[in-house]
Amino acid sequence: MNTNTGKSKPVKLHRPDQIKAYLDKYVIGQDEAKKTLAVAVYNHYKRLIHKDEAGSKVKIDKSNVVLLGSTGCGKTYMVKKIAEYLDVPCYIQDCTKITASGYVGSDVEDCLVGLLRACNYDMESAERGIVILDEGDKIARKEAGVSITRDVSGECVQQSLLKLAEGDIVGVPPFGGRKHPEQPLLYIDTTNILFILSGAFVGLEDIVAKRIGADTRRIGFRDADAPGSNISCLDDVRPEDLREFGMIPEFIGRFPVITHVDPLDREALKRILTEPKDSILSQYRELMRMDGIEFDIDGEVFDLVADEAERLGTGARGLRAVMEKLMRDVMFDAPRDAALHGASALTLHRDAAQKSLGKVLRKAE
Ligand SMILES: Nc1ncnc2c1ncn2[C@@H]1O[C@H](COP(=O)(O)OP(=O)(O)OP(=O)(O)O)[C@@H](O)[C@H]1O
Ligand SMILES: [Mg+2]
Repeated sequence: MNTNTGKSKPVKLHRPDQIKAYLDKYVIGQDEAKKTLAVAVYNHYKRLIHKDEAGSKVKIDKSNVVLLGSTGCGKTYMVKKIAEYLDVPCYIQDCTKITASGYVGSDVEDCLVGLLRACNYDMESAERGIVILDEGDKIARKEAGVSITRDVSGECVQQSLLKLAEGDIVGVPPFGGRKHPEQPLLYIDTTNILFILSGAFVGLEDIVAKRIGADTRRIGFRDADAPGSNISCLDDVRPEDLREFGMIPEFIGRFPVITHVDPLDREALKRILTEPKDSILSQYRELMRMDGIEFDIDGEVFDLVADEAERLGTGARGLRAVMEKLMRDVMFDAPRDAALHGASALTLHRDAAQKSLGKVLRKAE
């Protein structure tokens, strides 16, 4: 197995403010997470340069990140965008697919194979890539602290991730799958790979609230109308809370940076429809443009869509789903009208939107 060593470009250092400015073009809100990630990533890659500097006596530790928060609010998206900006490979490993070695499923090393694949087996690039450990909350042990009845599989997966996260030279089968005695292995050094553990961590807020003695119903994000509802308990997550949740201390120790995304409220959802580069609106516009149609959507329609998406409770993911339903008839009729009558401009108004949405909702009932 040949690897493309020697071809990769040196890492270009980007300042935290530059990383954040790039994220701002795509991701609405989430300032806390953006800042924390930008600093962590900057320091991570500075560490790489520092290592090569002659005469440096201080060893800088790696700072893997825990990224918490509700589904569809930008966790994976932000990390992917950072990797894109820095031009480093990124691989998303679903932690629920990892099993403790010896069982059916994938080994922890599979994430390194994924990373290698993501950069066409360029070993140098892979060795400074980013691995997102998605659904990271699913590898918590179920009964934290109860040693007799606890479910050990999650704990075993955490154990097996320790060395990778800290930095080790790991032999991986080039094409993934089980290690085989006859198969030559590729050796990959994980010292400079940044690991980001992400997950919804449902229930963590209650743990934090219990520790700080607060009432989640009052300050948690579930009650959107309460004063100060934008203060989430996730602002104050400490390592001991993660431990209580079921992460083992050795694991937490290797992920010193903890940050979170906020749930997206109606206003944020509305902005996501139109503001980001590659926004949903601009995507539909582009599709219509290919049929020679200048397409627009009335501002009021976005209120409808945001309401409906908020009701779905899947964060920004709901927007896409609602828009697809809303646009079905328009996307069906418009190309024909353009071909037959040379229609060249089209605006989706609130009435029409409400009608198609109503139709869909009635069907769903
Ligand atoms: N804050 C945001 N600004 C702009 N777009 C967003 C934002 N949050 C989410 N999105 C959009 O929603 C999609 C899904 O978000 P993402 O994959 O980051 O969810 P997640 O937080 O990782 O959720 P999960 O816990 O389910 O994995 C993204 O691809 C992006 O298009
Ligand atoms: Mg995700």
